[in-house]
Parts: sequence; C-alpha cells; structure tokens
Amino acid sequence: MNITAAEFIISAPGPKQYPVEGYPEIAFAGRSNVGKSSLINTLTNRKGLAKTSSRPGKTQLLNFYLINKSLYFVDLPGYGFARVSKETKSYWGKMIENYLKNREKLVAVVQLIDIRHAPSRDDITMHQWLKHYRIPTVLVLNKADKITRGKWAQHAKIIRQSLMPDPETPVVVFSAETRQGREELLGILDKMVKS
Ligand code: GTP
Ligand code: MG
Repeated sequence: MNITAAEFIISAPGPKQYPVEGYPEIAFAGRSNVGKSSLINTLTNRKGLAKTSSRPGKTQLLNFYLINKSLYFVDLPGYGFARVSKETKSYWGKMIENYLKNREKLVAVVQLIDIRHAPSRDDITMHQWLKHYRIPTVLVLNKADKITRGKWAQHAKIIRQSLMPDPETPVVVFSAETRQGREELLGILDKMVKS
C-alpha cells in the first residue's frame, strides 16, 4: 500500500457520526498510550495527523482518517486507562465493542501490544474477543526501539504464549521511532483490504 493522501475526517462520539461512504475500514486498538496514534502517523508519513501524547487517554472518540480517498483508518480510544471514572470506562468499552461488532466494512483490526511487557488482562480480553467474533487481526508489537533487537524474538514468544493468536494472524514488530516494520505492515494491510 502506497499512501499518497491522508486526511482527518471526523472525531465521532457515536455511530450517527460515522462516515457513510462504505469504504473499507482498518481499526487500531490497544491499551491507552501504547502508540496507536503514533502508528497511524508513521504509516501515513504525517507527523501531526493523529494527535499523540505522553499522557494516556489522548484519543477519546473514534477518529476517522481517509486514506487515498478509498479507505478509512479508525483510531480507537485506548482501553485500560485507569484515571477515568467507571462510567466513562464502560461507555468507551461499549462504544468500541459496538463499533467492532457492527461495522460492516471493517476489514481488519490492528491490535497493538507493547513489546516490552507481557500482555495485560485487557490485551488478552480484547484479543480473545477479536478471535471470538472472527475479526481478521494483525498483532503489532510496538515500541521495539525500546529494547535491543536481540530480545525481540524472546519477547514476541512470551506475547504469543499469552495471547494465543490464530496461526493466520500476522505478527509485526514495529517502531514509530525507527519505522521498523512499516513496509511489512503496509503490505499486510494492503492484502487484507483487497481480499
Ligand atoms: P491514547 O490516545 O491515549 O489511547 O494513546 P495512543 O495509543 O494513541 O498513544 P500515542 O500514539 O499518543 O503514544 C503514546 C506515547 O508513546 C507518546 O509519547 C509517543 O511518542 C510514544 N510512542 C509511540 N510509539 C512509540 C514507539 O514506537 N517508540 C517509542 N520510543 N515511543 C513511542
Ligand atoms: Mg491516541
């Protein structure tokens, strides 16, 4: 996939505001602060397209980015963010769940996991959930620049053992900092959109 155009379309509080063209969509899910927005910026080569922050909880609505005028990237709010109220958490949870369950043109979910750590309870729940609903998933193990290359395989193994992804689920080691994994991920997403 060669991204030549990327534009922010809408921050949607709910389904009423979701785009209606029916273009295929790829959603990005993961713990708050794991690097979803940074990943979108790296893929699109646009530094400030998706707002990033060192403070978790930056992305609070579903943000839609139109790619090459024919595909949407959807930046989902991060899960597992401790500093919001129970009510807000369950509202986010429902919003994400409804989107993932009901969106007809959702072709893939990119689930981000911090390569440095074993998956959290929320990571595991999200992954089992994606498997259960048979939503095609790509696992992105990101922030790879934060550990030495020699440790990637060992960390990837621990994450696999905990999440138990389907054999057909691609696993990509990624870094927004070094752009490691960018081409590989774009290739995988391209195939998923076309299949
Ligand atoms: P929410 O919107 O709160 O859910 O967070 P997010 O998942 O969108 O994370 P975001 O992209 O805002 O990144 C969070 C922090 O991690 C920022 O300080 C980023 O600069 C940093 N970060 C993201 N990706 C990487 C990476 O690959 N390497 C390093 N070193 N830092 C990263
Ligand atoms: Mg974000």
